[in-house]
Amino acid sequence: MTMNSKLMVGNWKMNGSLAANASLLSEVLSGMGGVTCRSAVCVPAAYLAPSQSLLAGSALALGAQDVSAHDAGAYTGEVSATMLRDFAVRYAIVGHSERRQYHGESDAVVASKVQRALAVGITPIVCVGESQSEREAGQTEAVVKRQLAAVIHANGHCVSEIVLAYEPVWAIGTGLTATPEQAQAVHAVLRVQLQAATAHADRVSILYGGSMNAANAASLLALPDVDGGLIGGASLKAPEFLAMLKAASR
Ligand code: PGA
Repeated sequence: MTMNSKLMVGNWKMNGSLAANASLLSEVLSGMGGVTCRSAVCVPAAYLAPSQSLLAGSALALGAQDVSAHDAGAYTGEVSATMLRDFAVRYAIVGHSERRQYHGESDAVVASKVQRALAVGITPIVCVGESQSEREAGQTEAVVKRQLAAVIHANGHCVSEIVLAYEPVWAIGTGLTATPEQAQAVHAVLRVQLQAATAHADRVSILYGGSMNAANAASLLALPDVDGGLIGGASLKAPEFLAMLKAASR
């Protein structure tokens, strides 16, 4: 368990529109009374500027969903960490399973992205997680440890500055959630791995992600090594996201 308050992060993925996202944000902001946990929303890159304006001065931090592994230059379509910082981006999701799967991001690429974010003071939210077939083959621990090891190898003791998210791929967007026992077991393994890499492992919040919703959040957040959540679908509905922020504020 870290000393920090819980951290709840919405991952909007590629959803919404200028108008829809503005109204979602204003509805969330107007319901934040009583929320004491840390919170953020990771918006599509195209909406960073309007989101920055809407979130200015609020407790809800701005996040991005990805960051380039490169500093600057001929990388068409990429957005650099320095560019994200121009919009007061506080967090960037790195190595989401959808990036690993659909965009071929290797462990090494993910590790470079973490370096780029940390270099400009953006907190990377590093995602790890096994597929259904890897779980069935008994490889869960080996997979998440390999994914985290690449980040530790490239970043050394600076790994204490990341946020880690355990997102079993089979639970993402499927309505299947890891049981509390499954989640706690993996989180504990990740915590031990962090402790071997840095004396400040307790600074690292380890989030759970994968079909977290208002109904199951409290039982997951009660686990000793679950420090918050990374929330996809349920973060697109203001009342449900707010209920989860409140569950994390108890
Ligand atoms: P989900 O997505 O909550 O819709 O399962 C979580 C994520 O992919 O970060």
